[in-house]
Amino acid sequence: MKSKKTQVCIIGSGPAGLLLSQLLHNEGISSIIIDRQSRERIEARVRAGVLEWGSVEALDEAGIGARMHKEGIPHAGFDLAFNGDKHRIDIKGHTGKDVMIYGQTELTIDLIAKRLEQGCEIIFSADDVQPIDVKSSSPKVRYSRGGESYEIECDHIAGCDGFHGVARSAIPDAVMKTFERVYPFGWLGLLVEKPPVSEELIYANHERGFALSSMRSETRSRYYIQCSLNDKVEDWSDQRFWDEFSLRMGPEIASNLKTGASFEKSIAPLRSFVAEPMRYGNLYLAGDAAHIVPPTGAKGLNLAIADVRILSRALVEHYKKNNNDYLERYSEICLKRVWKVERFSWFMSMMLHQFPDMSAFEKRMQRAEFDHIVGSETASRSVAENYVGLPLEM
Ligand code: APR
Ligand code: PHB
Repeated sequence: MKSKKTQVCIIGSGPAGLLLSQLLHNEGISSIIIDRQSRERIEARVRAGVLEWGSVEALDEAGIGARMHKEGIPHAGFDLAFNGDKHRIDIKGHTGKDVMIYGQTELTIDLIAKRLEQGCEIIFSADDVQPIDVKSSSPKVRYSRGGESYEIECDHIAGCDGFHGVARSAIPDAVMKTFERVYPFGWLGLLVEKPPVSEELIYANHERGFALSSMRSETRSRYYIQCSLNDKVEDWSDQRFWDEFSLRMGPEIASNLKTGASFEKSIAPLRSFVAEPMRYGNLYLAGDAAHIVPPTGAKGLNLAIADVRILSRALVEHYKKNNNDYLERYSEICLKRVWKVERFSWFMSMMLHQFPDMSAFEKRMQRAEFDHIVGSETASRSVAENYVGLPLEM
């Protein structure tokens, strides 16, 4: 067994793990990152692309924001649409802040490049990754690679290995509580090298189902429609997608739609999930390892970034001031915000999708929710405040 030493061993080289390592490096705290996938696979993942303003500031503080500002697009608002009736949520007007359109894929590429450039050890394609002795003062992470066995000794383990990772299962069932809602539909998304149908995002509820118009740049669009969980990507030709998307967006919006051959198409399930606690001994969960939100609120990436901002500050207090207060309260601090963000993502999902067993009364409730937001400055402001990002309270 070959062994290595570091202060913080990070399982998972997604945005949560990479940003944590960057924030710790900037404070002179060492870390090793380990991931079971190759660098190519991780950098090829297509995920969402809306950054809260707090996330933009965190990436700037971490010294990783240059390309985001060069290629990203600040947005001051977005539209909600209901059977063709549109209402703009004036994010900037209500909060004084924008959101930033910048793909998670690009952010992950930036973070990996910076980490490697600064000499961080990222162990890609590791097998059988196992956190052990997480309750002891010298936890370890074991893994194998190329037939060799390795052990990383550390002070703290950060479980940033996503929903299907190994870290969460290191917390005994007797201690772990989980909360979940699985939605009875999925999102069929595609990427196309065509200018977006609208300058800002449009979240649309239509009697045929939900649809979302988003983008990666002024020449690359990202579109989604609600689909059945039984659907397969091969059931959806590009033409069938364009026809359905146009119907759900309505003739006015669809008249501006520029279609073409998609270069990526995939179906994602929708789930709300929270695991409590997010800390167990010297193991700290962050990002999708601890919670999942449906994409309707554009919160998955931002919640992961918020967790590691809190965890890195807590670790800095520990190493620099010997103050363990924040580490001890890490789970409580994160979960307070996590549940509010789960609420917003659930609220948007309940208002904007067609549920198979929905009653006529519930459909009217969705409409009334939309009409309330349209008619109430306060309700619009509440949507804007949640969308731009709730404050980080430590
Ligand atoms: N061992 C090592 N690495 C693992 C293991 C394991 N057993 N299981 C998973 N991983 C790695 C994955 O390969 C992935 O690179 O952990 C990483 C987790 O990254 P993400 O899933 O991107 O999770 P996170 O960094 O928390 O980012 C959350 O990703 O899914 C989106 O919507 C979500 O935007 C949010 C963001
Ligand atoms: C995306 O651009 O992929 C996207 C944007 C907003 C969402 C979800 C996904 O709410």
